Amino acid sequence: MFSNKHRSRAICGDVFDIPDTKADLVYLDPPYAPPSDDNDYIKRYHFLEGLSVYWRGLTIMEETTTKKLKKQFTPFAYKRTIEDALLRTFEHFEHAGAIVLSYSSNAIPDAARIVDLLGKVKPSVEIIAIDHKYSLGTHPAASRRDVREYVFVGRNA
Ligand SMILES: C[S@@+](CC[C@H](N)C(=O)[O-])C[C@H]1O[C@@H](n2cnc3c(N)ncnc32)[C@H](O)[C@@H]1O
Repeated sequence: MFSNKHRSRAICGDVFDIPDTKADLVYLDPPYAPPSDDNDYIKRYHFLEGLSVYWRGLTIMEETTTKKLKKQFTPFAYKRTIEDALLRTFEHFEHAGAIVLSYSSNAIPDAARIVDLLGKVKPSVEIIAIDHKYSLGTHPAASRRDVREYVFVGRNA
């Protein structure tokens, strides 16, 4: 963290409730919707998720050793709802100068479909792909450790 001498504001809530959508650049880092259902973001990162709001408004599962958080529904976590959630997010920020999205090849939908969806609101979509090997929390032999991390950049021209 560093100071850029400007005032900043942090809010926590549903992305679709953000009222100010005309930023120069909107950066989106949603959970990756898994092809199977064993990759819930909150299940793995519950500590950081709780810490970010000092656990206010969250339900801790007291019976768990690591004090996990009760699952909250998000349309970004399921293969049946992710495409609609991404499209609605892009539409929500369509008046921003640029929309930048982080996503993974180990998730649904694939890069070509994301280009289609982002292309509905931003005519120029660039993909930056970086090979990545996950080293935390997954079995060493699991093939899903080798993935491509994508950054999609949607612009008006
Ligand atoms: C991959 S994490 C982001 C991590 C963050 N960029 C960082 O570096 O710490 C995805 C985040 O999206 C949040 N999220 C899921 N559904 C959401 C929604 N409908 N509106 C806003 N945030 C949501 C999750 O709670 C989680 O914090």
